[in-house]
Amino acid sequence: MKICIIGAGYVGLVTGCVLANIGNKVTVVEKNKEKLRMLKNNQMPFFEEGMDELLNGVKEKNMIEFESNLKEVKGIIDIYMISVGTPLNQEGIIDMTAFNSVIDEISSLSCNSGILVIKSTVPIGTSTLIEEYLNRGGKRWVTASNPEFLRQGSALKDTIEANRIIIGTNSNKVAKLLERLYRPLKRPILIVDRNTSEMIKYASNAFLATKISFANEISILCEKVGADIKMVVKGMAMDPRIGGDFLGAGIGYGGSCLSKDLSSLINTANKNNVEVAILKATETVNQRQRMLLPYRLKEIYGRLKGLTVALLGITFKPGTDDLRDAPSLDIIRYIIENGADVRVYDPQDRACKNVKNLFPEIYIAKDCYDALSGADAILLLTEWSEIKDINWKKARKLVNRRLILDGRNFLEIEDIEKYGFKYVGVGRGA
Ligand code: UGA
Repeated sequence: MKICIIGAGYVGLVTGCVLANIGNKVTVVEKNKEKLRMLKNNQMPFFEEGMDELLNGVKEKNMIEFESNLKEVKGIIDIYMISVGTPLNQEGIIDMTAFNSVIDEISSLSCNSGILVIKSTVPIGTSTLIEEYLNRGGKRWVTASNPEFLRQGSALKDTIEANRIIIGTNSNKVAKLLERLYRPLKRPILIVDRNTSEMIKYASNAFLATKISFANEISILCEKVGADIKMVVKGMAMDPRIGGDFLGAGIGYGGSCLSKDLSSLINTANKNNVEVAILKATETVNQRQRMLLPYRLKEIYGRLKGLTVALLGITFKPGTDDLRDAPSLDIIRYIIENGADVRVYDPQDRACKNVKNLFPEIYIAKDCYDALSGADAILLLTEWSEIKDINWKKARKLVNRRLILDGRNFLEIEDIEKYGFKYVGVGRGA
């Protein structure tokens, strides 16, 4: 099939390369000039495992091309897919500017009909409304909702081995076409109506966020009663009805999706006069967890002023260079405002460069050991394996005080304490 994907972000680019790799001719439209330049030169605009090779492979086979504008896309397109970002604006409301401008571009195309698949996360009801909008002058567009469930850091694997493909449509023809498109991936497919499909996306992310906040809430109680959250979760997870995924306690979730989608769902509930107590509590708990480490540090020293704090890992999770809504940003801001010096190390250069732009006063270290030099405390914010593998025997000589606050509970207490470090985890009260 000939597919046109609009938006070369994580969703659009990964989907585009995967669809090209299974035999479709794909054109990706990207407005950002720098991104487009990189893609035309076979370079990935962001880090994602396995994507460099895949991009090069499909380009060599001439299965993918990149354009800056929809009007430049050649040939008859079987399916248009929209995967532009729908971030939250300053007021916490979903910003549909990029999405709406693509819809206007589509509406000004010369063709009178087409299939538009919406992969961007959009408020419930959008796919239906867009179809009405595109057809207001008598055109015959059909929209479908096909949300994405990939995670950054494992985006390619999550797409190829998707645990489900959700197709929201009220057209049998479109359902069959999309089934045919995805069939080579051999993944489970669920066909529903468009609003249900859009809700599946929101409910899934809200549930994942709720699991994390639940574990975080229990972790605080664990500290009070002398229990270890890691073993509590292990014990809970032995019940297959509960499972252990997304119950990792720590400084809470970040990234461009969980917070945004939760907040968007809460807005939908507010508009519909529905009280969503669990969703609101999930947000509150996450906000509290974020500041746990700097508050604890302040408690330990009675101040932050004059301290040197080493922060290891700043991306919102390992395997990505993304800093969007990363807890590290709130933590750095608070520590700086309270008068401490900050030394940062992250394995991703791009993330280090971006954080330096946001906070010019921080020191970006060459490696973990450089970051630890003279530190009064080490804050672990992202569970990169490079950080896990630190030689603590070597590290203990570099620091000013042997104190580790592990915001991801990823170190083994004994491995650290044997080198004289004081270890403070989250919810590890036993
Ligand atoms: C999330 C969902 O997991 C994907 O299924 C979804 O497709 C995606 O949003 C999206 O809507 O596009 P992502 O934002 O890439 O994916 O990241 P996650 O792996 O969900 O992690 C989010 C945050 O939760 C990270 O900061 C991570 O450190 C944190 N987390 C995760 C925890 O604090 N505890 C856990 O047990 C798991």
